[in-house]
Amino acid sequence: MTFTPERARAQFGALSQHYQDKPVIFFDGPGGSQVSLGVLEKMTGYLGSYNANLGGHYFSSQMTEQVTHNARASVCALLNAPSPDNIAFGMNMTSLTFHLSRIISRDWQPGDEIIVTALDHYANVSSWQQAAEDKQAVVHHIPLRPEDCTLDTERLCAQINDKTRLVAVTHASNVTGSVVDIRAITAAAQRVGAQVYVDAVHYAPHNLIDVQALGCDFLVCSAYKFFGPHIGMAYIAPQWLQRLRPYKVEPATDIGPGRFETGTQSFEGLAGVTAAIDYLAQWGTPGAPLRQRLQESFAAYHQHEEDLCRYFLQRLRQLEGARLYGYPEPDSTRRTPTFALTFKNFSPEQIAMLLGRHNICAGSGHFYAQGLIRQLNLQKHGGVLRIGMMHYNTRQEIDRLFEVLEDALAEADSPAAVAGR
Ligand SMILES: Cc1ncc(COP(=O)(O)O)c(C=O)c1O
Repeated sequence: MTFTPERARAQFGALSQHYQDKPVIFFDGPGGSQVSLGVLEKMTGYLGSYNANLGGHYFSSQMTEQVTHNARASVCALLNAPSPDNIAFGMNMTSLTFHLSRIISRDWQPGDEIIVTALDHYANVSSWQQAAEDKQAVVHHIPLRPEDCTLDTERLCAQINDKTRLVAVTHASNVTGSVVDIRAITAAAQRVGAQVYVDAVHYAPHNLIDVQALGCDFLVCSAYKFFGPHIGMAYIAPQWLQRLRPYKVEPATDIGPGRFETGTQSFEGLAGVTAAIDYLAQWGTPGAPLRQRLQESFAAYHQHEEDLCRYFLQRLRQLEGARLYGYPEPDSTRRTPTFALTFKNFSPEQIAMLLGRHNICAGSGHFYAQGLIRQLNLQKHGGVLRIGMMHYNTRQEIDRLFEVLEDALAEADSPAAVAGR
């Protein structure tokens, strides 16, 4: 079946609901996407019939093994990992990153260097800063190019030297949508034997990842950003799978990805992860391998998201009093359809509250990307308003957004006027 946003939308109960008699519009995908009906079904199906733990000689435990196996295989295809064994699960990206940062930094020495960036969500900054502090390693912060909020990759690569142990970098910003050229960074890191840890949480719902082409050592993402449940997942490159020494309970397995998984996993969540990846792949050639179906489906998402992006930017250019922080063109190799905005006379929170009253869901603030907000000097202003689109969003929803924004910006020129509305 060919992708259309309408066909995708029909699979999300949340998108057609009315709240207090008004339709709803979700522009908060970067904070958490809506969950498809197929995902819900698989999760309740697992919990309703098979809830068990691993290792038993009975049907529900065997089903739980199968659910875990299937989830690893599906994520392996999603990331193009060499093997399902390279995929470890955890509660969310942040927990996995704190856990892995302890393990990865075990043999760092005083004076070793690590690199973090101003574009990153602080899950991929604080964890490394704290690991560095424990080991007296030096942390280098790489800034953005303020003109378009892209990462200064040349500066990052120039910072890599013989002492560099690790580069922690996002694949795409959850605030401005800026995409990072990871391949350039891994090429520079490989020359000195430094590791690269990629945060692909924001990138994953918009672009198909290929960890082998990226050449990264680690990559993390979260299923609740790609239409699934609250589960985090990590790719661990083959050379690190057995070489790292994880903190773990003694009786737990010391072979394969289970070494990195603490305690009992959310098996219903794993069932949901597989269903979310099946959802993503559904527009590909029936019967083709999962990776191919994902490639074909993502080609359709790109086309639609670029169209949304183009339309949004065109409407934005006609809106008086709004400022965009980010790459100004609809080029999916440079940006996702996620937009950071500020407004003349209004704080981002005031606009978010106004939109909220119209059931238009969009957040405001720093979104944990503190380095970015600081560099743009927007802390006192309350950060930015974030409009984030997914492939289930439509031009009609963008029209509705601009209707509300145009009314607000044209009618009122003081915050007091908005507060009274
Ligand atoms: C880019 C990015 N990285 C990391 C995170 C943290 O992910 P999690 O909520 O799975 O810990 C988020 C969450 O919003 C994010 O957007």
